[in-house]
Amino acid sequence: MLDDASQDTVSNGDVPLLSCQDLVLGYPTPSGWKEVVHRVSFSIRKGETVALVGESGSGKSTIAKALVKLIPVRGGSVRFGGEEVAALGTSAFRPFRKKIQLVFQDPWHALNPRLTAGQLLAEPLLLHAGGLRGPALSSSIDNLLESVRLSPDLRRRYPSQLSGGQRQRLLLARALAVEPELLVCDEPVSALDVSIQAQLLELLGELKRSRALTLLFISHDLAVVQQVADQVLVLQDGKAVEWKSSRELFRNPEHPYTRTLLEACPVW
Ligand SMILES: Nc1ncnc2c1ncn2[C@@H]1O[C@H](COP(=O)(O)OP(=O)(O)O)[C@@H](O)[C@H]1O
Ligand SMILES: [Mg+2]
Repeated sequence: MLDDASQDTVSNGDVPLLSCQDLVLGYPTPSGWKEVVHRVSFSIRKGETVALVGESGSGKSTIAKALVKLIPVRGGSVRFGGEEVAALGTSAFRPFRKKIQLVFQDPWHALNPRLTAGQLLAEPLLLHAGGLRGPALSSSIDNLLESVRLSPDLRRRYPSQLSGGQRQRLLLARALAVEPELLVCDEPVSALDVSIQAQLLELLGELKRSRALTLLFISHDLAVVQQVADQVLVLQDGKAVEWKSSRELFRNPEHPYTRTLLEACPVW
């Protein structure tokens, strides 16, 4: 099942934007090391949305963290635009770091509560284009707010003065500030009400088209995945159990674990 699907990707001919082969990840423990992601392979073509799905603890966030080097890659290969990046140190990885942006699942903890929305956006903008000053910086902040459909009036507000949906948009705008190629969204809508979820998913779809973004979309919620994903990788306890197009997955789930996930999904 996995072999057939990965051949599909390879036979397409173009180099994937991101390709992970036999990825091994884990965490240090007092007695050594605990492996939590076991030889996982998947790839994403430019402009595509790939979803990682699986229950809590299946290793989704661990993969997201490894892609931006918040944790080291212990085994396997990570290629970005054809270049091997798994073994690169922090400074060698820096040029790639801007191209891969992570949108965390918990905007509440990812946003410094002492900074206003405007200041939170100025930070990555200055990192990206250090020369921005005064009116140019100010209009870039407004443009970013508008691009995630937040009113420029919100720039003076602190995260605590924003709703959950607005905080998630602000976090998205921060990621967009450095003009990434790949956006890794870790449960971006899980904490939101269903109607707010739908608006955010629509916004992501629009941004993807208008900014030629590629998305790695992480979710435990298959109803959400069905709306956004082109390809889906199903993870169970850190192992990849099914990798196929979203259409095929929902029409013909092969692995018993995928079927269990689908049965637990209310819209299915
Ligand atoms: N910082 C950490 N230290 C040790 N173990 C961790 C850490 N973060 C996650 N884990 C473990 O790694 C496994 C995968 O977790 P995670 O990637 O967060 O799963 P998911 O995002 O799919 O819910 C779980 O068993 C979890 O307990
Ligand atoms: Mg997670």
